[in-house]
Amino acid sequence: MTPFRDAGIADAFAVPLAAPDDFAGWRDQARRLLMAEVPPDRVTWQVPGEGGGDLFASGHRLPAPHPDAPQPRVPRAFLDLAAKAALHRDEGRFALLYRLLWRLQQRPGLIEDEADPDVRQLHRLVRTVRRDIHKMRAFVRFRVIGSGEDERYVAWFEPDHHILRANAKFFVNRFAGMRWAILTPQGSLHWDGGVLSEGPPAARSDAPAEDAAEDLWRRYYGSIFNPARLKVGAMLKEMPRRYWKNLPEAALIPELIAGAQAREAAMVEQGGNAFDAERPGSLPEIAQAIMACRRCPIGCNETRAVAGEGPSQTPLMIVGEQPGDTEEEQGRPFIGPAGQLLRAHLADAGLDLSKAWLTNAVKHFKFVPRGKRRLHQNPTAKEIDICRWWLESERVLVRPRLVLALGASAARSLLGKTVSVQQVRGQPLALEDGSELWITTHPSYLLRLNDGPRAQEEARFAGDLRAVAARLAELAG
Ligand code: URA
Repeated sequence: MTPFRDAGIADAFAVPLAAPDDFAGWRDQARRLLMAEVPPDRVTWQVPGEGGGDLFASGHRLPAPHPDAPQPRVPRAFLDLAAKAALHRDEGRFALLYRLLWRLQQRPGLIEDEADPDVRQLHRLVRTVRRDIHKMRAFVRFRVIGSGEDERYVAWFEPDHHILRANAKFFVNRFAGMRWAILTPQGSLHWDGGVLSEGPPAARSDAPAEDAAEDLWRRYYGSIFNPARLKVGAMLKEMPRRYWKNLPEAALIPELIAGAQAREAAMVEQGGNAFDAERPGSLPEIAQAIMACRRCPIGCNETRAVAGEGPSQTPLMIVGEQPGDTEEEQGRPFIGPAGQLLRAHLADAGLDLSKAWLTNAVKHFKFVPRGKRRLHQNPTAKEIDICRWWLESERVLVRPRLVLALGASAARSLLGKTVSVQQVRGQPLALEDGSELWITTHPSYLLRLNDGPRAQEEARFAGDLRAVAARLAELAG
């Protein structure tokens, strides 16, 4: 023993963790330290790749649990926050977490005390990590390499914190059908369509630089960029400059800002509703591209996008609001309860669904988790507007003569402004490409009504669909 230890100064423990994001390891060791009644100022956490470490600490041989030590109290709310904060690159994070855990044993309500400096620091770390997780989901851009059997998608990304593993499930769910790799300076993830594996840190030059998909991103970004709403500060907050170097669409930003005034004038002249000349060239191209779209918060919520379906050119397009729980799981529009009701009414009205293009205003499912359930949430006007480009692109290709909008979100997407469904339903409105827009209620609205009102509203809905069927017959004749 060193003289320091004899003097009781160096009764300290250096506890190694397996990786910078080794929260499970920290939790196990923290529990053992608590049981042995080792106070926080006697512990240093040794994290691979990080400095620090106590010259006088006694390695990782922890003392045996104190015989009278009570089971540690670890509130769920703390654990959830701690799991996120552990991913921060701040080298003091594990010490902070252990200090909080230690203090929670004496003061179980501590975590509610937002004035406490440790609790405040915990929240600060969590906020930063959440932002980084979100940014990675929004700004990873895959580039295709190889073709046919060998086709793979590779992305380069530089996270600020240790979030790569924490984001793995998101990318597996989102891109389950592709073979991809995400390379970062901290490590890499590889998905072969069935198995996820981890690889070593990579360099930017390991990832491909350019591919044809870049063009699609640039066209899409150029089209959703609304010069009339340009707020440079807000845009930079959403898309900070440090991410630009890996974003194909970012190359457009200076040019778009510079051209904003001219574009705004042109939009005003064209009624603010101009169709872009450059769009995806095929419906499968849209179906593939929406999977990678994360331009709005809904796109970042771990769900897969649901593409429209139907014949590639057809006179009738039916537009719902967004995929629901079942649609998202199975990747097809209108197959859940609202879809069943819609399908029954369409058949009654004599409308042949196999001849319609069925799609949604918003391509991702927006929900709030409630236990095991996912509760539908309405998209905001901004989310609908961001997603409109995809719907417009579908219209350009499908070229329907009549578009049936189900509910207010679909109506907004098609008209570019919010209208009252009750005021405009059941009559044709002109769309800018010469097609007709008919608006009626959304079938989910009918499902929410009680028996009496529901029978009445279903009868009106059925009437609207018959009117659409009659008009389609006229247009065909
Ligand atoms: N509701 C919609 O608006 N669209 C669907 O695809 C399913 C339910």
